[in-house]
Amino acid sequence: MPKVLVSDPIDQSGLDILAQVAQVDVKTKLPLEELVQLIPNYDALMIRSGTKVTSEVIEAASQLKIIGRAGVGVDNVDVAAATRRGIVVVNSPEGNTIAAAEHALAMMLSLSRNIPEADKSVKASAWDRKKFTGVEVYKKILGVVGLGKIGSHVATVARAMGMNILAYDPFISKERAAELGCTLVDLDLLFQEADYITLHIPKTPETAHLINAEALAKMKPTARIVNCARGGIIDEAALHEAVKNGTIAGAAIDVYESEPLGESSLRELGKSVVLTPHLGASTAEAQINVAVDVAEQIRDVLLGLPARSA
Ligand code: NAD
Ligand code: MLT
Repeated sequence: MPKVLVSDPIDQSGLDILAQVAQVDVKTKLPLEELVQLIPNYDALMIRSGTKVTSEVIEAASQLKIIGRAGVGVDNVDVAAATRRGIVVVNSPEGNTIAAAEHALAMMLSLSRNIPEADKSVKASAWDRKKFTGVEVYKKILGVVGLGKIGSHVATVARAMGMNILAYDPFISKERAAELGCTLVDLDLLFQEADYITLHIPKTPETAHLINAEALAKMKPTARIVNCARGGIIDEAALHEAVKNGTIAGAAIDVYESEPLGESSLRELGKSVVLTPHLGASTAEAQINVAVDVAEQIRDVLLGLPARSA
């Protein structure tokens, strides 16, 4: 029987599918050396974002046929090294779209209404209403950077809340943007006009530190930024300075330059910053979607059927 190593927490629904065709070993939080030692015994590896599948892991993976990432990005897999060894890399491009979009919207509203800090204060037995006066999103301008699957859903819901949407996405047509009720603009105009900016782009060499000191300086002092896309699209040091100095009003961040987040000056910014630990895809529904989607692809490859590659 083939063997599958599941090295990050995966919903049971996915494990049940794998168990139809393979021996499934769940071993999470493995140090790199242990993963390198274990991997030669496995035909498939299933991960989320915790496991880093480096070239060292892939070199040791003498029997591995497939790596399945239960999520959208495959940033934590050395895809080039896997391809060189003939190992297929698969993912779930749509399973957590709604979860990530809803998290971005929740972050925008939490930041606007100071919900995390107000909650902390009530739980500490205070009753301070004035301190937590917020701002409305109604009639405000939302700048959506990346009008793909998640960005489109965010734009659609935000329109229903009465927001006006500007979008920047060089790969989307004016017609598609118009269908979504968005006006396509260049990035500078979006930075200058938006009250809220939400990022829904991949991390690539072009998007790394797209939000840097120069970009932040173009924004309104009342602007608020949401990043539920990928860490490293925002220069965190520049963001800290911009919020601290009042260059912009605040930020809501789910993803970080380095994860888990270590020492970070972002923690010092009080109610101007809302931080969550990479929870964009963390809903019961999304975790079932991605687990089933990726487990089915692994099962098919182990049965000798063709794969859909990431
Ligand atoms: P998608 O591929 O459907 O959309 C991405 C969009 O970005 C595309 O329309 C593309 O044209 C556009 N784009 C690419 N490069 C760009 C650039 N330089 N400038 C502007 N636009 C650019 O992807 P998606 O499913 O919507 O995911 C968006 C991001 O969210 C990805 O980075 C994904 O990894 C991340 N994500 C995070 C979580 C989380 O847990 N926080 C969950 C799911 C997805
Ligand atoms: C993804 O790429 O799907 C997300 O970042 C979610 C996750 O890491 O689980």
